[in-house]
Order: sequence, then structure tokens, then C-alpha cells
Amino acid sequence: MKKEVGKHRILIFGASGFLGNAIYKELSSYFKTFGTFNRPNKELNKNTHFFQYNVEEDDAFELLQKIKPSIVVSSLRGDFASQIVAHKHMIEYVKNHNCKLIFLSSANVFDAYSKYPSYESDTTLSNSIYGHFKIKTENMISQLPKMKYAIIRLPMVFGAHSPRIKEIKESLLRKEPIEIFPNLIINVTTDTKITQQIHYIINRNKYGVFHLGSKDLVHHDDFIAEIIDSMSTIKPIYKLVFTTNNDRYLAVLPKVNLLPKHLQLFSREIIEELAV
Ligand SMILES: NC(=O)c1ccc[n+]([C@@H]2O[C@H](COP(=O)([O-])OP(=O)(O)OC[C@H]3O[C@@H](n4cnc5c(N)ncnc54)[C@H](OP(=O)(O)O)[C@@H]3O)[C@@H](O)[C@H]2O)c1
Repeated sequence: MKKEVGKHRILIFGASGFLGNAIYKELSSYFKTFGTFNRPNKELNKNTHFFQYNVEEDDAFELLQKIKPSIVVSSLRGDFASQIVAHKHMIEYVKNHNCKLIFLSSANVFDAYSKYPSYESDTTLSNSIYGHFKIKTENMISQLPKMKYAIIRLPMVFGAHSPRIKEIKESLLRKEPIEIFPNLIINVTTDTKITQQIHYIINRNKYGVFHLGSKDLVHHDDFIAEIIDSMSTIKPIYKLVFTTNNDRYLAVLPKVNLLPKHLQLFSREIIEELAV
């Protein structure tokens, strides 16, 4: 059955990547959806909805003027200074058009706090270059009128096609050590849940800061061990990485901007999804 095409035109920066591509696949049957890729890709080159875009060399504004999206999704990686400029262009476009920006941020905006999990309105603070970059971008975006943006803070994302799971599978086959962080307490999510959540945010015109992680917290080492146990019979070799002597939290929990129950998840569902 042909699905109805919604009112939005969507442009996803980073649509060839793990999350950007999952979001593209989720949205493209419902909305006129376009995306960017960076590395040469014969398949995407033939697709008229995809545009080659390099954040260091190309002008995001030109692409925005050409596509005229009503939703921009930023799911990019690449040089941080160039990404700041690109996001300035996205913000400028969003400010002057009937358009909203959905930015994929990270739990790392809180990585300088270690004693508690973090909630949407907590002050951000980071010790990492990556976290600093995400905070700077979030701060620029939050100058927009509040209905014009959604900042999506993500914890570690696991999924059958995620780089993390692929790496674990390869390490198992090669009998190479897999890094685990015994003191690290996190929450987690999957690409399948994130795409449904973003679809909901678009459909219901939700805005603000979203913490899209599992409702429960897990120790990194236990969670990785459970995943491996459910996925493979090969005995893993672990490399234990201790960053501090005490337990350290890197978790983004929702308190004010809650999504409906069917869009929330528990870490167990991820193990079950990966075991299939
Ligand atoms: N995955 C996670 O666990 C996680 C957790 C928290 C937050 N996030 C955030 O989610 C977003 C997407 O992450 P991801 O895991 O999906 O990353 P990814 O798989 O590496 O995809 C990154 C995307 O950015 C594009 N890109 C890379 N370098 C570029 C450049 N120089 N110019 C233009 N485009 C460039 C890639 O294009 P090509 O592949 O074609 O080069 C790809 O489309 C990121 O902003 C990340 O910070 C991810």
C-alpha cells in the first residue's frame, strides 16, 4: 500500500551514516526526504535525493536554499570547527524560514559530571573536546525560538548495524580483546528506537531537549558481556579499562520531556533485539 506523503520536506545532513541512514529509511516513505553523503558512494550518487557534501569544503546554506526543507536533521561527524560553521548556516536558514532543526547531540555534554545521571535541564559541562563541541553547538541552537529546534541527547547507541556491534563481532572472530569499562554506569539505546522517536517528534511537532536513553542504567562491562552472551558462543577476551577508581555515570535520563510509553525502552529490549 502506498503511504501518504506528509507535509514536510526533510534534509538529513549525514544521511549515509549509521544513524542518519536509519532516520532516512524511517522517514522517506512518509515525507519528501533528502540526505547528504561525504565519501564517494556509487549507489547514493545515482539517487536523486542524495547530495555529496563535505563539511570542510561545501556550503550548507547553498544546499538548504536548493532543497528548501521544513525539517533539517543534523547527524554529522567531521571536523568540529567546520561543523560549527555549518550549524551556524543551518540556524540562519531555520531562523528565516518555516523550518525546524533536529540536532543529534550526546550524553558527553555532561561528561565532566560523574556522580549522577543527567536530566534535560541540568547545566552541561564537559572535559572532552567532543563534549565541548556538542555543548557549543547546543548553545547556538538554543538561541532559536524554542519551537524551532529539538536537541536529541543520545547515550551509546547499539544496533545490529551499529559500528560498536560490528567491532565486537570482528574482535570475537579475530580473538582480539574487547574494551570494557567496569566503573562506567550508562544508559543505552538502539537506532530502531531513535528513528521511531524522531518520527514521533516530527509528527507531533514536539520541541525542546530530549534525553533518549533507556529508562534503566547498566554497568558498561555487564551490558557488553550480556550482549556477547546472547549473540555468540565464542568466549570473549576482555581488556578492562579503568578511568577512575569510583563508579562514574554517563547517562541521560528524561524527566520533563517524556515520550509516550511505547517509545521508551529498557536495556533488556536491546539485548533481545540483538539476539534475534
Ligand atoms: N552512534 C552513537 O553511538 C552516537 C551517540 C551519541 C551521539 N551520536 C551523534 O549522532 C550523529 C551521527 O552519528 P553516527 O554514529 O551515525 O555517525 P557515522 O555513522 O560516522 O555517520 C556520520 C555521517 O557524517 C558524515 N560525515 C563524516 N565526515 C564528514 C565530512 N567531513 N563532511 C560531511 N559529512 C561527513 C558521514 O558521511 P560519509 O560516511 O559518507 O563519510 C556520515 O553520513 C553524530 O553527530 C554523533 O555525534 C552518535
